[in-house]
Amino acid sequence: MMWGKREKQKMNNLFEEKLELKSKILIEDTPQKQEYSLEEIKNKVILGDAFKVLRKIEKEVFDMVFIDPPYFLQLPNKELKRWRVKTVVEGVNDEWDKFSSFHEYDNFITMLLTEVKRVMKPTATIWVIATYHSIFRIGKIMQDLGFWILNDVIWVKTNPMPNWLGVRFTNATETLIWAVKDKSVKKYTFNKEYAKKFGIGKIGANVWTLPICLGAERLKDEKGKKLHSTQKPIELLKRVILTSTNEGDLILDPVAGTGTTGYVAHILKRNFVMIEINQKYVNGILERFKYSHLLS
Ligand SMILES: C[S@@+](CC[C@H](N)C(=O)[O-])C[C@H]1O[C@@H](n2cnc3c(N)ncnc32)[C@H](O)[C@@H]1O
Repeated sequence: MMWGKREKQKMNNLFEEKLELKSKILIEDTPQKQEYSLEEIKNKVILGDAFKVLRKIEKEVFDMVFIDPPYFLQLPNKELKRWRVKTVVEGVNDEWDKFSSFHEYDNFITMLLTEVKRVMKPTATIWVIATYHSIFRIGKIMQDLGFWILNDVIWVKTNPMPNWLGVRFTNATETLIWAVKDKSVKKYTFNKEYAKKFGIGKIGANVWTLPICLGAERLKDEKGKKLHSTQKPIELLKRVILTSTNEGDLILDPVAGTGTTGYVAHILKRNFVMIEINQKYVNGILERFKYSHLLS
């Protein structure tokens, strides 16, 4: 089919719009780039390897860090079928979740936490979320690196992934470790009115009950399938950000996925820096910010 003048113009406009969108929020890291000033990266998504990018950022600049690292689920290399109905489970089988051993995974987490610690302000806090597959290793590594754990918050999922094989309990929780850089840190942000509001019971205990990310909130790829296997719910990040930051604070997410952290930070009038290695997810982040004033 031949394109008329109008179609061509439309395509050009779309292309220009995309370019503009990219130039406003996206930074593509390169080996030539030696360092980033804070102003340069504030409210930006950096397409690149967190280990390389973090080293180019000056020390002690972030008020809060949220990390949702690979889970290392160690799924078998075959289709997993549901227990009763025998349909195939769409689990987390992404390349970024594969490590050859616990040793390799521990190195990844240790290096990431070491780089992150350097860029945290002395009063900053850090959240790390994971499931039982890795949270215990992460907790040990954090303590070994000198982080001081303030809480673990248990996220109880109201709609967990069903039990696949029927050989153990359905796993309906994830754990968030909340910590400061070391034991001496006393002046960190804790907005207790929100903690009370979100936690269970009158005292607002460290249990948050909310659904996993569903419906329109879930980003889709061009085939209508979920873009990312572990996109976190907006409500979860809202709770994290409201309890542990104030308006104007600067939040880092070095393994940003679909950018839930920066998206919620922006809505709640916080600033962010996000790093993500995978172009496909970065495109998803740009889509998410399409209607934000950052891009207008
Ligand atoms: C569990 S997911 C994060 C999901 C995210 N919280 C969300 O709501 O969409 C972990 C992400 O880490 C990214 N990742 C893995 N290694 C990385 C690296 N070296 N640098 C930057 N990102 C990395 C993966 O591409 C993946 O998107």
